[in-house]
Amino acid sequence: MGLLDRRLLFVTGKGGVGKTTVSAALARCAVAGGRRVLLCQADGAGSLAAAFDVPPAGFDPVEIEPGLHLMAMDTEASLREYLKLHLRLPLGGRLGPLATVFDFVAGAAPGVKEILSVGKIAYEVRERHYDLVVVDAPASGHVISQLAAPQGIRELVAVGLIRNETEWMGDLLADPEVTAAVLVATPEEMPVTETLELLGRIRSETEVSVAAIVVNRVLPELFNRREAALFDRLAEPGDWRSELVRHNGDAVHHVLEAAALATRLRRSRAAHLARLRDAAPDVAQVYLPFLFARPHGTRAVQLLADALSAELD
Ligand SMILES: Nc1ncnc2c1ncn2[C@@H]1O[C@H](COP(=O)(O)OP(=O)(O)OP(=O)(O)O)[C@@H](O)[C@H]1O
Ligand SMILES: [Mg+2]
Repeated sequence: MGLLDRRLLFVTGKGGVGKTTVSAALARCAVAGGRRVLLCQADGAGSLAAAFDVPPAGFDPVEIEPGLHLMAMDTEASLREYLKLHLRLPLGGRLGPLATVFDFVAGAAPGVKEILSVGKIAYEVRERHYDLVVVDAPASGHVISQLAAPQGIRELVAVGLIRNETEWMGDLLADPEVTAAVLVATPEEMPVTETLELLGRIRSETEVSVAAIVVNRVLPELFNRREAALFDRLAEPGDWRSELVRHNGDAVHHVLEAAALATRLRRSRAAHLARLRDAAPDVAQVYLPFLFARPHGTRAVQLLADALSAELD
């Protein structure tokens, strides 16, 4: 089943590897495929909005492009919406004194904030307001408590309203045809190590399946085989090179050194890619290129969305 055929994707990974950018690109890709998408910022205020060059969104989704909706998670607003929907409490703008109770409960009981956050997301999926919900989720570690929130509550409460209200969420999160986590990594030592740890923890501590590892910032291969042979000859001191230097000066050395560095970097990163593939052979891996152009804003998102759709085909 295709990655974008699911209805709920949690995008997570180490800090700074490109979770927000990849969430945005996945959403763009799905929209291009004709789907109505909700992008939810569960972490990092406003950064998804910045990726689309739009003002930060609030709890109420805004359509920022045809078919693409953006919202930011807010657990207090989620509680307010829940109370309004289910208990028909006439609540005005803010929760007022209830907010104090909420802060107290959320501070005292583990998983309350997480369940309100996951609950809102799962609710949007269940109600089929969108074809796909993409969550720019918290980084490794923090994401576990979110993904495991429904089962945590299930273990805590045996019967009753809260039990019923979290059971369907747990079922939705545990269904691999509906929900999946997407891990973002980069081809470097620490991000690969952390990705493998996170994969292990999601598998052992949550019921959510991992659909793919997106390796971001992969360096392109500079030369094909023939070009590489030519480059090796150029890099050797010899008549040909002396002739070039005579006409062009030290610039020749600089160009060759830069190309040699790029090639070395790419080869060293290839080792990390291989390690990731060997350690997680059963998880689909998708490579996204390192962008040398201004790496933010909608242009970057579109470049990565194009790369993604080529890889997902
Ligand atoms: N493929 C890429 N090539 C070059 N730069 C990239 C690429 N992907 C992301 N970036 C840049 O790297 C930086 C971090 O990306 P992003 O904000 O998406 O990471 P993040 O994992 O969401 O970070 P955080 O953990 O802080 O939320 C940004 O400046 C982004 O523009
Ligand atoms: Mg981010």
